[in-house]
Amino acid sequence: MSTEVSGNQGILDEAASEDREQLLEMLRKAYWMEMETVLSYTANSINPDGVRAQEIIESLKEDIQEELGHAQQFGQRIKELYGVVPGSMDFAAEQSFLQPPDHQTDIVHVIKGVIQAESGAIAHYETIIEFCEGRDPVTQDMVIAILHDEQGHRRLFEGFLREYEAEGRA
Ligand SMILES: [Fe+2]
Ligand SMILES: [Fe+2]
Repeated sequence: MSTEVSGNQGILDEAASEDREQLLEMLRKAYWMEMETVLSYTANSINPDGVRAQEIIESLKEDIQEELGHAQQFGQRIKELYGVVPGSMDFAAEQSFLQPPDHQTDIVHVIKGVIQAESGAIAHYETIIEFCEGRDPVTQDMVIAILHDEQGHRRLFEGFLREYEAEGRA
């Protein structure tokens, strides 16, 4: 890295390399979480059967684009912090709760899986935001905006779940 610039370079400073490494680890995890969500939402936006499934399908289709955008933002930030966006061989799946249900009319399974995925993202992004406090306001800003999106996604699917619960189907 060039040391021609003088003065405090914040998270990009040579002296901040340990913080940066820790942050890169969290950003790579976030990147994979978003990518796995794209995979899971794609399958779950195609598989469901039944008249009630359409709303969920449409909603997930929209989310896929947003989650892909999040993955791209995390990747871009990894690069800006002198990291490398990982290749697919480094990917390890974790979303056991978003696998296709036994019956494709089981919409509640999908709704609950989405809520779990969004909750996991929210928890991880809260951790990143906390870590960035006093260290990296730019990453913090970016992740706060993404966190806002995830909170919106979760709230929407909580609403879907309430409807099923009200009908005694969840
Ligand atoms: Fe996301
Ligand atoms: Fe989301």
